[in-house]
Amino acid sequence: MTLRSTLAELFGSAFAELGLDPTLGDVVPSQRPDLGQFQCNGAMAAARAAKRNPRDIAAEVASIVEADARIATLEIAGPGFVNIVVTDEYLAEATSLTAGDERLGVSPIDGEAHWILDYGGPNVAKELHVGHLRTAIIGESFKRTLRFAGARVTGDVHLGDWGVQMGQLLVEVRNEQPELIYFDETYRGPYPEESPVTIGDLQRLYPISAAKTKSEPAYAAAARLATVDLQSGRPGYRALWQHFRDVSVEAISQVYDDLDVGFDVWLGESSVHDRIGPMVERLESMGVAEESDGAVVVYVSAPEEEHQIPPLMLVKSDGGYAYATTDLATIEERVEDLEGSGAIYFVDARQSLHFEQVFRAARRGGIAPDPFVLEHAKIGTVNGLDGTPLKTRDGDLPLLRDLLADIEAIAIASMDAKGLADDYPAAERSAIAWLVGMAAVKFGDLSNHRTSSYIFDLERFSSFEGKTGPYLLYVAVRITSLLKKAGEQSIGPGPILPPARDVERALLLKISEFPDAVERAITLRAPNHVAEYCYELSGAFNRFYEQCHILSEADPDLRGSWLAIAGLTRRVVVTSLDLLGISVPERM
Ligand code: ARG
Repeated sequence: MTLRSTLAELFGSAFAELGLDPTLGDVVPSQRPDLGQFQCNGAMAAARAAKRNPRDIAAEVASIVEADARIATLEIAGPGFVNIVVTDEYLAEATSLTAGDERLGVSPIDGEAHWILDYGGPNVAKELHVGHLRTAIIGESFKRTLRFAGARVTGDVHLGDWGVQMGQLLVEVRNEQPELIYFDETYRGPYPEESPVTIGDLQRLYPISAAKTKSEPAYAAAARLATVDLQSGRPGYRALWQHFRDVSVEAISQVYDDLDVGFDVWLGESSVHDRIGPMVERLESMGVAEESDGAVVVYVSAPEEEHQIPPLMLVKSDGGYAYATTDLATIEERVEDLEGSGAIYFVDARQSLHFEQVFRAARRGGIAPDPFVLEHAKIGTVNGLDGTPLKTRDGDLPLLRDLLADIEAIAIASMDAKGLADDYPAAERSAIAWLVGMAAVKFGDLSNHRTSSYIFDLERFSSFEGKTGPYLLYVAVRITSLLKKAGEQSIGPGPILPPARDVERALLLKISEFPDAVERAITLRAPNHVAEYCYELSGAFNRFYEQCHILSEADPDLRGSWLAIAGLTRRVVVTSLDLLGISVPERM
């Protein structure tokens, strides 16, 4: 129960008492803090429905709510807004309740539901590049937030490790190293443990094989054949493919580890291979999958639909399976093996059509039973300083490890400019710089709504001034050091007293909004609400801290109360940052 929802309930029952819809009693933080702390705007809608004067309804509601001891003042404004101010006693009491709650007021969500989150999508033979950044940062944050609210969540990396690219690589490796034992069809194993290729080799061979597949029909045919042989289990191909996968996973997980982005399961497209045959047969026998020009497709638009969506490709005319085929089988896996209640895909917005097709086919084919949620949480692009999608000089997508190579150096420069951590041991300084750099990159991303694109400007993101991750770290660390100093002077936190200054009220009100920010981030699949909130809370704390000189305050009760408020603020800031995937150093 939060302050806001308590008020909403109070207003809701007043609406009900007047025979009006109780949901109209919703209460939101005021747009005009000079007029009130909260407002209830339901009288306007109620008046429209009841064909009455909104101000009259507002007045009737107010006269009921006014009697509540928690309300200080109510004022009717404009066409029928009710501006609300709560008593300082109640504000203090609500803050103490928040402080006593391990979830800081966030109400636990349905713990029965099991969410599968898809926010990886890296591919074998390709190191993580800039296209994987947002999906990782946003997905990780969403996972942490859902978990914080008590949900059951499984993050699945969904590795792209099957499909025709694997056949292409097999052919290209054979061109380079034809003598490898993996290509000897008479050989029966065992195969060497050491990989004959590194991730660097794969990264180099991949574009070569892709280009040849496009320009040389014979090469393309060989690659398709190799794919089919691999998928049907040719031992040498499977063994070599396993090396491709292992060296790729090693490189990929290294970068995810650096980013502090984790997955609970490392399933890949290959894990659903055995499901595909039976699934296709079933869809065919149901009449959901149909033959079309030698291919098998699933029609996903009814003929009368105005915006027709092209059919989903299930089996290509050469017999191969498509991207959508593995995604469909993966839904089956998520329903049956993972026992999920829904899957949310944090994937590039440019894949919208793909997901629309897959989700529709999954419903038509009964692969996703009705209550199973399927959602594409669309992700925007990372742009360069010129405002177009970030590319290297050669026009490639920059690798994440190159993109992140400078963050420590830039963070150090920024710390130096602010005079931070300058006399710390070198190892600690560099550990702090890494956290500052991570905060810069993650907050730079998460402060934008997931569907918008943004300009990747590491210098700006790394500054301690403005709306940045480092600024938020600085606020948290400043409170840590305040608490430490208080401890050294044997000053401890005490009970939270009714606030007497506006800066104090504003801070307590902001603290009370944490659950609302978390709830918005969850329902809208949009962690930027937590990012925005954390920034606002930090501002509210700074204004409080400027006026309330905690350590020099003579009244021990007031000092204790302020210290408790500072400690609670730190907890909320650190928790918010953790939900964003950002870790706070102990000092800097
Ligand atoms: N590997 C895919 C790609 O590179 C992204 C996978 C996203 N997830 C999914 N279930 N399709 O485009």
